[in-house]
Amino acid sequence: MRILVINGSPRRERSNSLCLTKAFIEGIKTSIGEKELGVEVKQFNVADLEIRPCKGCFSCWRKTPGKCCIEDDMVKVIEGQLWADIIIWSFPLYYFNVPGPLKILIDRQLPMFLPFMVDREDGVGSGNHPPRYDMSRKRHVLISTCGFYSAELNYDSVTAMFDRMLGKNNFETVFCGQGELFRVRQLSARTGEYLKVVENAGREFVEERITDGTRRKLEELLLPKEVFEAMADASWGMDKETGLKISNK
Ligand SMILES: Cc1cc2nc3c(=O)[nH]c(=O)nc-3n(C[C@H](O)[C@H](O)[C@H](O)COP(=O)(O)O)c2cc1C
Repeated sequence: MRILVINGSPRRERSNSLCLTKAFIEGIKTSIGEKELGVEVKQFNVADLEIRPCKGCFSCWRKTPGKCCIEDDMVKVIEGQLWADIIIWSFPLYYFNVPGPLKILIDRQLPMFLPFMVDREDGVGSGNHPPRYDMSRKRHVLISTCGFYSAELNYDSVTAMFDRMLGKNNFETVFCGQGELFRVRQLSARTGEYLKVVENAGREFVEERITDGTRRKLEELLLPKEVFEAMADASWGMDKETGLKISNK
């Protein structure tokens, strides 16, 4: 089994979201037995790749079908997607969507499609392009943390985009609020408990799908809203009224 992780956090290995991704992969590994099937994981840190923005020239459709005129690391990313059985999109929520460099990577996927106009089968959106390659058996997972107390309602534009890109509900999601708590060592009992649920989600996903019981646990807040928000506000060491640093004098 081949897993491709596209890590869209500029924090690379220090990403909160990547903590969840690693737990999810651990769950996959324990389920299928790493040795038997040989789980291979390839990870791309978008921040370490040279991926320039799409020029909008359509040469990947007209002049050199399937090949972009920009020669950079995007070739490796497309090869990775063709290689993988499971593609994990791991990223922080930035302004209610994916971080800019990851959006650039997504725009650069145009060579993976044919230019023709086709109807959508899932009824989402108003048009579609057929895939150039058979991607039908690949499974996608979106794993993300965000800074507000809950993931609920914050991911609408993320799911709207991926619904159109991958097909309605053609992906699993693990979205978690209060993401910055994953780096607080003193809270590792609670975050560790949550990571165990994520691990279980990975196990269930590879066996079939994340069960409703696990989904409910994934949606539980790490800490109650009021506790989290008071702690988060205090962590900046600033006066809430003035926005100025509180001096230690
Ligand atoms: C530029 C920027 C924009 C952000 N936008 C949001 C947002 O729209 N909603 C939210 O809940 N958190 C937002 N956050 C917080 C991050 O999503 C959060 O800190 C996340 O856990 C970081 O994950 P990472 O360690 O995987 O990069 C933002 C953070 C930054 C730096």
